[in-house]
Amino acid sequence: MADYDVIIIGAGPGGYVCAIRCAQLGLKTAVVEGRETLGGTCLNVGCIPSKALLHATHSLHEAQHNFPAMGLKGKSPSVDWKTMLSYKNDVIGQNTKGIEFLFKKNKVDWLKGWGSIPATGKVKVGDEVHNARNIVIATGSESASLPGVTVDEKVVVTSTGALELGKIPKKLVVIGAGVIGLEMGSVYARLGAEVTVVEYLDAITPGMDAEVQKTFQRILKKQGLKFIMGAAVQGVEATKTKAKTTYKLRKDDSEHVLDSDTVLLATGRNPFTDGLGLEQLGVKLTERGQVETDAQWKTTVPGIYAIGDAIQGPMLAHKAEDEGMAAAEVLAGKHGHVNYGVIPGVIYTSPEVSSVGKTEQDLKDEGRDYKVGKFPFMGNGRAKAVFQGEGFVKILADKTSDRILGAHIIGPAAGELIHEICVAMEFGASAQDLALTCHAHPTYSEAVREAALACGDGAIHA
Ligand code: NAI
Repeated sequence: MADYDVIIIGAGPGGYVCAIRCAQLGLKTAVVEGRETLGGTCLNVGCIPSKALLHATHSLHEAQHNFPAMGLKGKSPSVDWKTMLSYKNDVIGQNTKGIEFLFKKNKVDWLKGWGSIPATGKVKVGDEVHNARNIVIATGSESASLPGVTVDEKVVVTSTGALELGKIPKKLVVIGAGVIGLEMGSVYARLGAEVTVVEYLDAITPGMDAEVQKTFQRILKKQGLKFIMGAAVQGVEATKTKAKTTYKLRKDDSEHVLDSDTVLLATGRNPFTDGLGLEQLGVKLTERGQVETDAQWKTTVPGIYAIGDAIQGPMLAHKAEDEGMAAAEVLAGKHGHVNYGVIPGVIYTSPEVSSVGKTEQDLKDEGRDYKVGKFPFMGNGRAKAVFQGEGFVKILADKTSDRILGAHIIGPAAGELIHEICVAMEFGASAQDLALTCHAHPTYSEAVREAALACGDGAIHA
């Protein structure tokens, strides 16, 4: 039986990053993980596999729609679904093995099995009980259920089943126009499925900048996705091959039914802490089932910490990673810090969508004086050369100090471009600081600079 300075439960982006940093800081570290492979939801059934399918189907879209216009002629590629899935599985394998390698390199032990905490300072895995000075809960989240909907991961699927469908559906109903619904909806629309998204609210991607929401929905509609807005799903009746989704329109309470081969339930995720024994330990949970933590990721029980999707805040892999690193610093007796005001969000559709900091609505609610600098990708030569002239960069800055308060991007490589603004915000930069920084031509990044210029005397190319 080994004794550890730290045992982390869960090897997702929060847990494995925390473990590596703990080991780097000289702590004897182990991670408990019950899956066959490391990496958690993100690497096995989330962020990484979905990006493989998004890349493959985006390439198909390019070949079908943009190759002929560039003088690239010939038969457009046909889809071999089995090979596409095995490409996706190879990508998963490369990444999960990479973490195994990093664990060995950093001397992090992998305790295989599902862990529980029988008492403070103790972690049980299978029949063995290990001692730990500190324990970190990094057990992530699971798909939220919806009354009247039974998931079988074949006909009625969550994101997990959606990455492994037996065949490409002819008709797909997506419940929820959030990140998962739109990313996976895009994948199957590009593969030829008729995709209908049923959303409870009147706008897609709740919490996002309203202009981005509108532009995004318009672009997705052009790509063939259908939307039924203001509709509450009442239930799904499924056979082995078909499903009937019943929804009620909020405006008149009328009830409607949609037929499809597959239904994707994407109405959010809940923290996952089942089986840990938190109740007996007295670890306090919030009303939403999140583990309650303080600013140093300490739970209400000394010696037990928690990070990632299991606690409050956005359910994002990179937020979990940052907390993992910062919590490791705290465990090593240093100071760990996460700037929750500068956590980017990205949707990996085509075009990509990204955001950081405040939305206009946030600033209005706070009663702040702000200015908007906006630049359309139509004015960016590089974007137009690759058929990506739709969308814009929008920077919000304080009216008096010019300090950047937020940014919202829809357009090519939006998920990369946002980081320039994140760095600027970390340094407390003004829009003028960005505007005065030379940007290479021709790049998509020039659109960020132009939006910053638009916060001052004006953009040049708009
Ligand atoms: P979400 O919270 O983003 O969206 C769920 C949507 O479902 C909302 O628009 C909500 O109004 C709608 N909804 C809820 N109940 C409904 C009902 N009965 N009928 C119709 N619509 C209903 O949740 P999603 O997309 O499942 O994602 C879960 C989590 O995973 C999120 O926190 C997300 O940030 C994270 N994630 C992040 C990704 C990324 O960063 N690219 C990729 C995938 C997931």
